[in-house]
Formats: sequence, C-alpha cells, structure tokens
Amino acid sequence: MAAPPLLLLAALLLLLPAAARSAPARVFSVADYGAAGDGSRYDTAAIQAAVDACAAAGGGRVLLPAPGDYLTATVRLRSRVVLEVAPGARLLGGTRQRDYPPEFRRWYVVLAENTTGAGVTGGGEINGQGGAFVVTPSAQKNVMVSWNATGDCLGDECRPRLVGFIDSKDVAVHDITLNQPALWCLHLVRCDNSVIRNVSIYGDFDTPNNDGIDIEDSNNTVITDCHIDTGDDAICPKSSTGPVYNLTATNCWIRTKSCAIKFGSASFFNFEKLLFDNITIVDSHRGLGMQIRDGGNVSDVTFSNIKMRTRYYHPSWWGRAEPIYITTCPRHPDSKEGTISDVRFINISSVSENGVFLAGSKHGLLRNLKFKNVELTYKRWTNYTGGLYDYRPGCRKMVKHKTGGMMLEHISGLEVDNVSMRWWRGSLEGWDVNPLLFRPSTIDGLSFHDWQSLDVQ
Ligand SMILES: *[C@@H]1O[C@H](CO)[C@@H](O)[C@H](O)[C@H]1NC(C)=O
Ligand SMILES: *[C@@H]1O[C@H](CO)[C@@H](O)[C@H](O)[C@H]1NC(C)=O
Ligand SMILES: *[C@@H]1O[C@H](CO)[C@@H](O)[C@H](O)[C@H]1NC(C)=O
Ligand SMILES: *[C@@H]1O[C@H](CO)[C@@H](O)[C@H](O)[C@H]1NC(C)=O
Ligand SMILES: *[C@@H]1O[C@H](CO)[C@@H](O)[C@H](O)[C@H]1NC(C)=O
Ligand SMILES: *[C@@H]1O[C@H](CO)[C@@H](O)[C@H](O)[C@H]1NC(C)=O
Ligand SMILES: *[C@@H]1O[C@H](CO)[C@@H](O)[C@H](O)[C@H]1NC(C)=O
Ligand SMILES: *[C@@H]1O[C@H](CO)[C@@H](O)[C@H](O)[C@H]1NC(C)=O
Ligand SMILES: *[C@@H]1O[C@H](CO)[C@@H](O)[C@H](O)[C@H]1NC(C)=O
Ligand SMILES: *[C@@H]1O[C@H](CO)[C@@H](O)[C@H](O)[C@H]1NC(C)=O
Repeated sequence: MAAPPLLLLAALLLLLPAAARSAPARVFSVADYGAAGDGSRYDTAAIQAAVDACAAAGGGRVLLPAPGDYLTATVRLRSRVVLEVAPGARLLGGTRQRDYPPEFRRWYVVLAENTTGAGVTGGGEINGQGGAFVVTPSAQKNVMVSWNATGDCLGDECRPRLVGFIDSKDVAVHDITLNQPALWCLHLVRCDNSVIRNVSIYGDFDTPNNDGIDIEDSNNTVITDCHIDTGDDAICPKSSTGPVYNLTATNCWIRTKSCAIKFGSASFFNFEKLLFDNITIVDSHRGLGMQIRDGGNVSDVTFSNIKMRTRYYHPSWWGRAEPIYITTCPRHPDSKEGTISDVRFINISSVSENGVFLAGSKHGLLRNLKFKNVELTYKRWTNYTGGLYDYRPGCRKMVKHKTGGMMLEHISGLEVDNVSMRWWRGSLEGWDVNPLLFRPSTIDGLSFHDWQSLDVQ
C-alpha cells in the first residue's frame, strides 16, 4: 500500500541534511566589511571578518561581489562557510612570503582546516598570480622562486599553493575557476566526503609543480566535469600519512606537460577503489600513470572510456610520452616495495609517441592487470628519438632500452582481450618496432585473446 503523501514528504525532509532544511543560507558580502576590491590594497582583514561573522552565525555564504579584484593573504575558511566568488570577481593571492603563515604546510591562498561543510564556489576566479613567482621564464621549464630561507621548506618547491582543505569533511568545490597557482592548485589532505565539480584549472604550461588536483590521504572523493590545463600532474592521488579510498573522477578534460592521472609518487599507504571514467587527455607528456615508490599497495582501480594523445615535450619533464606508465620500482634501495593489483583498462584509445610501460619490481609485483577494448596507436611527430626508459624519481632513473608497444617487467597476471596496436611506420624511424618487450624478470599468467598488431601506414 502507498504511504500517505504527507508522511512521505516528512520522511524525505528528515533525510535531507540539516542545512538544506533550515532557512536559505545567509550571505555575508565582503563589501560590508570594508573590502576595497581594487587589486592593490590587501582585503585580507575584510574577507576574514566576513568569514568569521558567517561562521559565528552558524554558516552561510561569504560573497566576493563583482566587479572586483580582492588581493589577500591566506584566508581561513571555517565550518559551514562557503566562499562565493561572483562571476567577474577575482580573489588574488599575495606574492610576498609574509602573506602566508610561517609553516609551509599552511601555505595556501584559501585554507580550510578541521572544517565540516566548507567550500568554494560562485562562478568567479581564484588566482595565485603564479607569474610573479617565475624567476627565469623558459619555454622548456620556468625557473621559479623558492622561499626556502626560513628552513620550514627546503629545496626549490617552496611556493604557496592555491586552495587547500586539511582534515576536513564534506568539502564542496564547484563552479569556479582556479587560475595560475604558484605551486599545487587544489589540495585535499586527510579529507572525507568531498565533491569537486565543474572546476576549471589553468596553470602555466611551463611551470613545474603546479599540479591540478592533489588528493592526499583522503577518502570518498568525487571529481566530475572538470577542465584542467596545466604544467604538472593534473589529477594526482598521493598517500603520505594515510590511505586513499574511494576516489572517482569522471567527465574531465586534461592537458598537461606532465602526467594526466598520476598515482604517487608519495605512496606510503594504500590506494583502494579508484575509478577514472570518460576522460579526454590531450597532448600530455604522459597519460595514466602510477609511480608507487614507498611501499603502499594499489588495488581495485578502473580506467574506462578514456581517449588520449601523449607527446614528448622535453627531457626536463618526467616521462617519454607513455600513454600508460605503471611502476613499483622502490624510490631508494631500502624503500619498501608495494604491489599493484586488479587494475582494469577498458575502452581506451591512445595516439602516442611511446609504448605502454608496465614495470613491477621483485617484491612489488603487478598482479591481475586487464586490458579490454584497447586501441594503441604509435606515431611520432616530435623529435623524440626513443631508446630510453624513464624510471624517475629515484629508482633506476634513466635506462637505455629498446622501445616496445608494451614493455613488461615483474608481472603476475595480465589479460589482454581485444587489444590492437597500430603503427605509423613512416614516423617511427630508428625505433625497433617490437610489439612486446620483456625485461629479464618473472612474468606469469599472461593471456592474450583477440590481440592484433598492424601497420596503418
Ligand atoms: C586542527 O586540529 C588539530 C588537531 O586537533 C590541531 O592541532 C590544529 O591546531 C587544528 N587547526 C586549526 C586551524 O584549528
Ligand atoms: C633554495 O632554493 C634555491 C633556488 O631554487 C636552490 O638553489 C637552493 O638549493 C635551495 N636551498 C635549500 C637549502 O633548499
Ligand atoms: C560551470 O561553472 C561555470 C563558472 O565557473 C559556470 O559559468 C557554468 O554555468 C557552470 N556549468 C554548469 C553546467 O553548471
Ligand atoms: C580513510 O579510511 C581508512 C580506512 O577506513 C582510515 O584508516 C583512514 O583514517 C580514513 N581517512 C580519513 C581521512 O578519513
Ligand atoms: C568506500 O565506499 C564504500 C561503499 O561505496 C563504503 O562501504 C566504504 O565504507 C568506503 N570506504 C571508506 C574508507 O570510507
Ligand atoms: C563525458 O564527459 C564530457 C565532458 O568532458 C561530457 O560532455 C559527456 O556528456 C560525458 N559523457 C558521458 C557519457 O557521461
Ligand atoms: C602492502 O602489502 C604488503 C603485502 O601484503 C604488506 O606487507 C604491506 O604492509 C602493505 N602496505 C601497506 C602500506 O599497508
Ligand atoms: C565499453 O564500451 C562498450 C561499447 O561502447 C560499452 O557497451 C561498455 O559498457 C563499455 N564498458 C565500460 C566499462 O564502460
Ligand atoms: C574491440 O575494441 C574496439 C575498440 O578498440 C571496439 O570498437 C570493438 O567493439 C571491440 N570488439 C568487441 C567484440 O568488443
Ligand atoms: C625538431 O627539431 C628541429 C631542429 O632542431 C626544430 O626546428 C623543430 O622545431 C623540432 N620539432 C619539434 C616538434 O620539436
């Protein structure tokens, strides 16, 4: 018997989150807190006051109205506060080290830490002014400034990131443009239950370490309808202090001078249940990659309905245009070796300047890999000469080796079903066209069904 409609409605209302049931979210405009929005005066105090008032009122939206360029030092979001940058408005990150907290781990233009239900949206733009961090521009790779003098950050990757959520729950980032980060763009650390939807990310194509979306030590993340065009890795799950479970990324478009989807290289904990579906990868240095270097294990991963074109840009970027690049080679001789198991590649087509690279290690086998309905086209249109395998970072670094359609090393279980290799012979001079190449190692459980290798020119 059908339930009375009123009872049904009441039941539905109970299922809705509390915020959706209460009155419409309150709006706190930064203009009411004295923001100038002129792009030269710092609006940090006004924006932070609006955020704090919004949090004190139980949550709502903090509006950056258009038109306006709001220059700021680090803004700290609070629970249930959603930063809303209106279409035509921009939040500009400061370019002085004193605009950021003393600790490198908190260097973000927008930072949410220990929050529930914080987010960023609004149709406008958050801009890291990455160009101001370039010391020497170079069409190969820009040389960037490094804020390493205090010692809280070492090396040459000491720059602020754009938007970060640390130890947070119910993160929502949607309908926003994230532009010109100086370092990583959108970073989740130990978060749970996050949605990233309809986000456009633009980084300088020649700038290193301006990753698109880094999902670190976080569970239950959904990324969808995103457009990422940047220099470094585009979607990058990492595990440094905890595992990564349940990540899905769908309906995305990616171009990068590095790897489009890259697991690692920080890989101290496990990666389980990840799905990448309906993704277009254009002119990227690598397509689907896993650099598992530190003993974490990867299992239950599906890549489906992916079209990609990978090309070679310059040796200073890791990679050699591999459409698929999987390795467990340990970072240092004494690093632990993780395994990679149950990975499926279904409905994939690629046009690329290099072959598929599948390299396990002695104690870090690649287990149960499956390729189904895969079309791999090999074609060269840059000056790349081949003959080198790139194991960086760490591991064996660069290894002289013939190039193959698929290179196999330390594998237990590989099922190939309806896979075709297509060779543009005329473009592959100097390349020994070997469909399959093995490095001396244990390989077992290979099965080939409906596999072909043919010349198309
Ligand atoms: C977040 O919580 C951790 C652990 O409770 C604490 O150390 C840290 O100071 C908190 N950070 C903020 C910004 O509240
Ligand atoms: C600081 O950064 C500069 C410039 O990238 C680099 O050459 C230098 O090695 C770094 N110093 C330290 C201590 O990390
Ligand atoms: C995606 O976000 C942009 C603003 O960044 C907005 O203009 C557009 O309408 C959004 N698309 C959808 C389908 O909501
Ligand atoms: C993710 O899930 C794993 C397994 O339940 C748990 O150990 C870890 O703490 C979770 N991480 C977060 C950030 O909730
Ligand atoms: C992953 O998702 C499944 C269901 O989709 C859920 O049962 C499981 O608890 C999730 N894992 C974590 C660590 O949250
Ligand atoms: C695949 O993603 C594109 C956006 O990149 C979207 O337009 C299209 O509708 C998606 N296809 C399916 C079947 O979801
Ligand atoms: C990876 O798997 C191996 C073998 O099962 C196990 O010994 C190791 O602890 C796992 N690594 C992590 C980070 O859980
Ligand atoms: C692969 O493509 C076929 C044919 O287009 C489709 O029927 C099937 O559902 C796809 N598989 C996956 C896992 O998306
Ligand atoms: C084999 O894969 C191709 C795509 O590479 C697809 O068009 C074709 O339908 C597949 N054949 C079967 C029998 O699934
Ligand atoms: C290949 O090298 C030639 C000569 O150095 C150069 O003119 C050309 O631009 C290069 N092509 C590509 C695609 O890099």
